[in-house]
Amino acid sequence: MKFNYENISKVPEKNINKAFKKLSKYREHLKEASENPDYPSDEGSLYCPFDKRILSQVLTAIENKKTTTLQYVVIVGIGGSNLGTAAVYKALTGSLGHLVDRLPKLIFLDTVAEEKMTVVTKVLNNLQSQDDFIIISISKSGGTTETIANTEILQNSLLEHFGSVRERMVVISSEGSRMWEVSKSQGIELVSIPSTVGGRYSVLTAVGLLPLVLARFDVEELLKGARQAVEDGLADNPDTNHSLTSAALNFYHSKKKRNIHSSFFFSTELRTLGMWYRQLMGESIGKKLNLDGNEVRNGITPVVSIGSTDLHSMGQLYFGGPNDKFTNIITVTRGGYHKVPYNALLPGLVKNIEGKTLNEIMEAVAKGTIETYRKLELPFVHIELENMIEYEIGYYLQFRMMEMMYLAKLMNVNAFDQPQVELYKEETRKVLENGV
Ligand code: PA5
Repeated sequence: MKFNYENISKVPEKNINKAFKKLSKYREHLKEASENPDYPSDEGSLYCPFDKRILSQVLTAIENKKTTTLQYVVIVGIGGSNLGTAAVYKALTGSLGHLVDRLPKLIFLDTVAEEKMTVVTKVLNNLQSQDDFIIISISKSGGTTETIANTEILQNSLLEHFGSVRERMVVISSEGSRMWEVSKSQGIELVSIPSTVGGRYSVLTAVGLLPLVLARFDVEELLKGARQAVEDGLADNPDTNHSLTSAALNFYHSKKKRNIHSSFFFSTELRTLGMWYRQLMGESIGKKLNLDGNEVRNGITPVVSIGSTDLHSMGQLYFGGPNDKFTNIITVTRGGYHKVPYNALLPGLVKNIEGKTLNEIMEAVAKGTIETYRKLELPFVHIELENMIEYEIGYYLQFRMMEMMYLAKLMNVNAFDQPQVELYKEETRKVLENGV
């Protein structure tokens, strides 16, 4: 991954150096966290890419559930319990992955939705055998209403056709949570999440690795990319430490009242990666109180756009509207297969596209967009992923998780809690208790 920010991010070098100085102690703390197999601090997720026990637990669970006819893996979970996995899966299978002839397929059930449940139960009930599917139910807390409701409805709707379903289930939760204990008593396969690793930082635990191994992705490469990002993210050098540099840039712009973070992906498969980051940034730094307990109402609003689609809907606003955004343009360098033919059906409509691949045309649009940002003097960085491969995605995920830890530290807020989200969960439970 290349992170280009000089001259285009509009942040004076001294502000970046100041952030490096301010966070030097915290950087040491992150280094310790990345080396500690006991996960003692909130930053414990930094050890995940190095923790061989995680993959070994995952492989054991898979060994117990392995069949030769697996077609669907249903992931029941919401927020941090599904977005990271969905991001990697969609990046690697494509935005139309459900039409591609590749098995097993991952299906995500996050919110409660009649329409989704109807389709999923129909698809599973049409399978020959229960060996053809696995249900992975994921909740760190073990008490999220949507996840539990979806798990219950799904397994219950399969009982009539398949008899017992619990043999085809895996539950991923915090060891000792209510979900963990109840599932254990039902004899359901269990895999744990290290207790200090919060949902939105959990993609490199069993939460992400179990489904991704089942879907036949190279998680070793994903972890290798993440390990490199940890190493880079601990360096005392803005040119290598993209996480801290990026945090410093975001911090600077938020102080200048640019409180919108715009991720502009020039790759259709990366929308969900953008949605994963939206959660990471939204929940990690959107805080009512700071670490001193003072009301600050801190936050940056993350928005996600896809080039070139959204140039035709949001481009005018981005280029001509308020200068209240800090944009990250993310491109993927790769070859291509589909070329515009020389023997055109409608010749002469657009010049210079004959013989060009779709990826080359996308590259031209991305370069045109970058030049427009530059000419309009709007602040941005350019992140280049070198191919759509597990290593690069793993690097990107880890780079962003570290960036968020640094950014929260600069903003003096807790990157790991979500107290106001808990409020809605509690209120929903009350409504359900008292009757809808
Ligand atoms: O990042 C977080 O911690 C949250 O977004 C959670 O992932 C989300 O609320 C789901 O919680 P749980 O995994 O406990 O069901």
